[in-house]
Amino acid sequence: MAEIFVAIDGPAGSGKSSISKQAARRLRYNYLDTGAAYRALAWWVLERGMSPADSDAIVEALPDWDYDIGVDPDEYFVTVGETDITEAIREPRVSSAVSGVARVPEIREHVNALFRSIMRSAPRDGIIVEGRDITTVVAPDAPVRILLTASEEVRMARRSAELTTENATEVADQLRKRDAADSRVVDFMTAAEGVVTVDSTTLNFDQTVDAVLDVIRQQTARTTHG
Ligand code: CDP
Ligand code: CDP
Repeated sequence: MAEIFVAIDGPAGSGKSSISKQAARRLRYNYLDTGAAYRALAWWVLERGMSPADSDAIVEALPDWDYDIGVDPDEYFVTVGETDITEAIREPRVSSAVSGVARVPEIREHVNALFRSIMRSAPRDGIIVEGRDITTVVAPDAPVRILLTASEEVRMARRSAELTTENATEVADQLRKRDAADSRVVDFMTAAEGVVTVDSTTLNFDQTVDAVLDVIRQQTARTTHG
């Protein structure tokens, strides 16, 4: 059962998912991508022909949303019912719908309860949980809390570099819009009290993983030794 909780928040493209997954591999921890849950819900809403804006209908249907996610960093998957949607949740139509679904307080409460239960039952010693409100709402008491940031320019460039079919300006525009919409719901641009900022603007991937691992080691040592 996981006893060490590491909470990581940050804006889109800051490196949360890839860095958290790699740090979890290095520490032999579990890993939870909370954004994937919101994406899985948005995918399901679209699949059922519901409007992402119809929050009452979504809240009412929530008990039927049968979602599962892998917490092993080497066996990551997302399913709804029998359908594997690991790839489908990254589609642009899902990215466009997700903020609308994620802004509804009843939906956030529902998924937060799910996250806490996944965290508690994770099989390894520790779990790294990443998202937007993990350091502040989902796990404000976690012994390690990190805000992973990078300049807007660098974040946009990283995201564009992953894609071959869409043009960079369009990607940057969508990301900016999503960050702006998400920021109205939770503040993930400034570190809350006690949260350590790791700025990855000038760090490459491995350097960022090392910086995050350093913070985890320092903070867990502090907790262990009083
Ligand atoms: O990977 P990327 O930064 O593009 O986004 P994500 O982590 O997959 O999250 C997708 C969306 O889920 C975000 O744009 C937010 O609308 C929502 N989200 C949230 O509201 N709270 C979280 N803890 C995680 C994600
Ligand atoms: O989850 P989030 O949206 O915060 O970011 P991500 O999907 O983990 O990272 C976006 C891209 O940036 C990935 O392709 C990472 O490999 C890359 N990245 C990088 O090149 N250098 C870093 N220091 C951090 C991430």
